[in-house]
Amino acid sequence: MMDKIKISPSILSADFACLDRQIKRVERAGADMLHIDVMDGHFVPNITIGPVVVRHIRRVTDLILDVHLMIERPEKFVDEFVAAGSDMITFHIETISSSKFIVQGSKLRKKGIKVGISLNPDTSLNKIKGVLKYADFVLVMSVFPGFSGQKFIPGAIPKIRKLRSIFRGDIAVDGGVSDKVAADLIGAGATILVSGSYIFAAKNVKQAIERIRHAR
Ligand code: DX5
Ligand code: ZN
Repeated sequence: MMDKIKISPSILSADFACLDRQIKRVERAGADMLHIDVMDGHFVPNITIGPVVVRHIRRVTDLILDVHLMIERPEKFVDEFVAAGSDMITFHIETISSSKFIVQGSKLRKKGIKVGISLNPDTSLNKIKGVLKYADFVLVMSVFPGFSGQKFIPGAIPKIRKLRSIFRGDIAVDGGVSDKVAADLIGAGATILVSGSYIFAAKNVKQAIERIRHAR
């Protein structure tokens, strides 16, 4: 039986002035987790959310907090994001050596945190092959990280298919995910769909979520 496809709305597309209500809205609509984009203005050309915001989000929702670290020297900050209540932490292979990822990953896994490795659209799968057995999931970027609302890069689909043939864990995909591409992503082997603008712009959020979850 095919496992349920999990949907992780990215709050980067939410209205930050009323984040509480925006989170409740996707929670009620059946989101499985909440994707939190952490950006430092160095690894990516944008600055977003720090541990203090994660800590406050933790107080208003029971959703799994899926924290995507797009920062340089992530090992320096990761403990703060864990203390703030993260349930899943994603590192970018462009920002951390394989050996440091393995050390950080095993430390987090001992605490019950799920650990992911992510790669940019122009980073080869070869770069993460050596760390796959230390990762619970892989986050395949289908845009260059930095902003929500960008156009989906189709090269992510064959990348997911290839990854699926060598990796048994969850495969998440992030960037430009909508009802137009969801079927192809699921067909290629993705099991977690991260989606920002498509979900938060929807009039009927529940319908939007179910449309991508069941796309085939
Ligand atoms: C991109 C972020 C994504 C983004 C997704 O740098 O990592 O999570 O917010 O937003 P959409 O779905 O609008 O591309
Ligand atoms: Zn993200």
